[in-house]
Amino acid sequence: MTDKLVTSIYDVTKSFKDPITNIKLNQDNKNINIVCKDGKAFISLNIDSKFQNQYQNLIADLKKSIQKIDDILSVNVVLTSEKLNEQDNKQDWRFKIKSKNIIAIASGKGGVGKSTFAVNYAVALKNIGYKVGILDADIYGPSVPRMMGISGKPQANDDNKLVPLESYGVKCMSIGFLISVDTPAIWRGPMVMKALEQMFNGVEWGELDYLVIDLPPGTGDAQLTLAQSSKLSGSIIISTPQDVALIDARKGINMFNKVNVPVLGIVENMSYFICDSCNQRHEIFSNGSVKKEAEIFEIDFLGEIPINKNLRILSDEGRPACIADPNGDIANIYSSIATKIHQKIN
Ligand SMILES: Nc1ncnc2c1ncn2[C@@H]1O[C@H](COP(=O)(O)OP(=O)(O)OP(=O)(O)O)[C@@H](O)[C@H]1O
Ligand SMILES: [Mg+2]
Repeated sequence: MTDKLVTSIYDVTKSFKDPITNIKLNQDNKNINIVCKDGKAFISLNIDSKFQNQYQNLIADLKKSIQKIDDILSVNVVLTSEKLNEQDNKQDWRFKIKSKNIIAIASGKGGVGKSTFAVNYAVALKNIGYKVGILDADIYGPSVPRMMGISGKPQANDDNKLVPLESYGVKCMSIGFLISVDTPAIWRGPMVMKALEQMFNGVEWGELDYLVIDLPPGTGDAQLTLAQSSKLSGSIIISTPQDVALIDARKGINMFNKVNVPVLGIVENMSYFICDSCNQRHEIFSNGSVKKEAEIFEIDFLGEIPINKNLRILSDEGRPACIADPNGDIANIYSSIATKIHQKIN
């Protein structure tokens, strides 16, 4: 009877997902444990304690649904975080950095505006008052130095560590300083891991509140290496509203789910266009599709960024929009996203 009840409870829980990892709460999920005694159900869910506030709705919904099962007299759902914390402490991350938060900016498809987002997000965080670093991990075409208006290369200090170049108060390092874009693809794979490790362990980052990582497009070596070797707080997925970008964004979300990196949310870039002459909002692509995708994946929709000529021109000039016009509409979108993420993870 009791075993049958546990199975019935799993039948209910399997249609729920962990709101942070997005993994289903089914029998294969090691983080959920169900015990049933004399009609009393005890459900414990192992979570990362940092995110406990995000679980309150899930607890209420689970209770409501499980209570409906015949022969269940009471339901108790508790959150635990022992195992994960233990794992965190025990896990000796190979890539070490003194940063309270490490956020990876990702997309499946290239050219959707990751680097533009990464740079403006980093500057928005700095404007709020955090100590910020930005790491350009795009092995196929590093663009952060150009967008941050940096020229020159970082020098090594007495400890033989590279000192990041600073621009607009943000510390910047680019993998482009270590690997040339012209390096043949065959050499890149094995070099990526080494170069990424050097970007963490071989750089004098000091103490940071945020390290923002601009990833290359896709789901390749750089993404996996970072997820497995550094303690990422989570990823932000950038997508444009077209289907092709969304299909690739889905691949990115699935990859992060597989390697247990929380997807903190998704941003719709090049969402709409406000015409200079008529001041009307034009939905060039089917606007709103990224928001729908977020609902399907049950991840947070963080906001929409319009197509903005200035954003592109300023990027090319090495002046992020959040610097050129810190109180403008575009800067406000970035700082509201920065605040949302900060509240979610702290
Ligand atoms: N919201 C926007 N409005 C106008 N132009 C934009 C916007 N976002 C990005 N761009 C422009 O689109 C181009 C591609 O952006 P970006 O380099 O940030 O994309 P990416 O995803 O990092 O590309 P890659 O995959 O090559 O690294 C750039 O010229 C950039 O200035
Ligand atoms: Mg880029």
